[in-house]
Amino acid sequence: MTDRFETHSRADLPAGNGRRDTPIQMTDTPDDRRPTQRVEETPRPTVQPTDNATAEGTGVTGASDRSLADEGTLIEARDLSVYYGDDQALRDVSIEIPENRVTAIIGPSGCGKSTFLRCLNRMNDLIDDVTVEGELLFAGKNVYDDDVDPVVLRRHVGMVFQQPNPFPKSIYENVAYGLRVQGRTDDLDAKVEQALRRAALWDEVNDRLDESGLELSGGQQQRLCIARAIAVDPELLLMDEPASALDPIATAGIEDLIRDLSEEYTVVIVTHNMQQAARVSDYTAVFLTGGELVEFAPTATIFENPDDQRVDDYVSGKFG
Ligand SMILES: Nc1ncnc2c1ncn2[C@@H]1O[C@H](COP(=O)(O)OP(=O)(O)OP(=O)(O)O)[C@@H](O)[C@H]1O
Ligand SMILES: [Mg+2]
Repeated sequence: MTDRFETHSRADLPAGNGRRDTPIQMTDTPDDRRPTQRVEETPRPTVQPTDNATAEGTGVTGASDRSLADEGTLIEARDLSVYYGDDQALRDVSIEIPENRVTAIIGPSGCGKSTFLRCLNRMNDLIDDVTVEGELLFAGKNVYDDDVDPVVLRRHVGMVFQQPNPFPKSIYENVAYGLRVQGRTDDLDAKVEQALRRAALWDEVNDRLDESGLELSGGQQQRLCIARAIAVDPELLLMDEPASALDPIATAGIEDLIRDLSEEYTVVIVTHNMQQAARVSDYTAVFLTGGELVEFAPTATIFENPDDQRVDDYVSGKFG
C-alpha cells in the first residue's frame, strides 16, 4: 500500500489561526471495518472553551501561564454521536480542542470518555457494530471521510493506555518500533535518544538500552510507552488514564511529563482523578452519563466556577 498521507512536520501547523490552509492528504483505501456514518446537515453550535477571563484568580494551577486565548484548533467534533449496536455512547458532541495544549476529559464511568478518544484514532473501527454520526475533524480533515486510511491516521495520533504495555523487546527497540515500521531508520540512534529524553527516561536507561522494556518499573514502562508514542512525532497524543495504575511518585513524574509535552504536542487525557485534571490540563471537558458533553472550558473555570450545576456537583464530588 502506498502511503500518500503527506508527512508534515509540526512546523507546518498553523500558528494560532485555528485552521490549516491545506487539509492533511490521506490515502483512499477501502476499509471494510469502517463504521457506517451518517452526517447531519445542520450541526448544532460547537462548544468552545468559554472566556479565559473567568479562569483568572481562581488559584487552580493546572492551566499554564501561557495564554489560553490565542491557540489554534487541532480537533473539531461536530455533532459526533457513537452507537454500539442500538446503545448510544456519545450524544451530539461538538467541541473544538486547541493545539499544543492539554485537554482533560473527565466524567463518570461509562459516559463515553474512552469512546471519544477512540474516535480520534478510529480505534472504534476495531469494534463490531459501531455507528458514528457527525463529523470529527483532525487538522481540518474529517477522519471518517471515505478516503482516510486509519492506519495512516494512527501514525499522526499516538496513544498511551492505562496499563503500560511495552512490547517484549529491548528498550531501544520499543522506541524504534514505529520508526522502523515507517521506514524512517536514518539517524535511528539519535531519534531513539531524543524520544527517551522527551519522555524523561533517558537518564535512567541510557546504559541499558538492550535490556527488555518489561524489566522496567511501572512508571518507567509508562514513560517508555510515551517515548514509543512520540518517537514518530505525532501531532496528537491521546492518553486514557495513563497514571491510574501507578504509585504517587510515578504519577507525579507522568504529570510533569504531560505538562512538558504540551509545549510540542496536543495532549488529550482521560482521567478519573480530579486533582490530576486540575494539575495537568489547560482545558477540561466534562462528559456526563448518556455521552453528553456538558461543559468545556479552561480548567480553572470548570473547577472553580462552572456554568452547569451538574458539573459543579460532579467536580465537588456530589455524584459520580
Ligand atoms: N466495545 C463495546 N461494545 C459495546 N458497548 C461498549 C463498548 N465499549 C464501550 N461501550 C459502552 O459505551 C458506553 C461508554 O463507554 P466508555 O468505555 O467510552 O466509557 P468511559 O467514560 O471511558 O468509562 P470508564 O471511566 O469506566 O472507562 C458505556 O455504556 C459502555 O458500556
Ligand atoms: Mg474509559
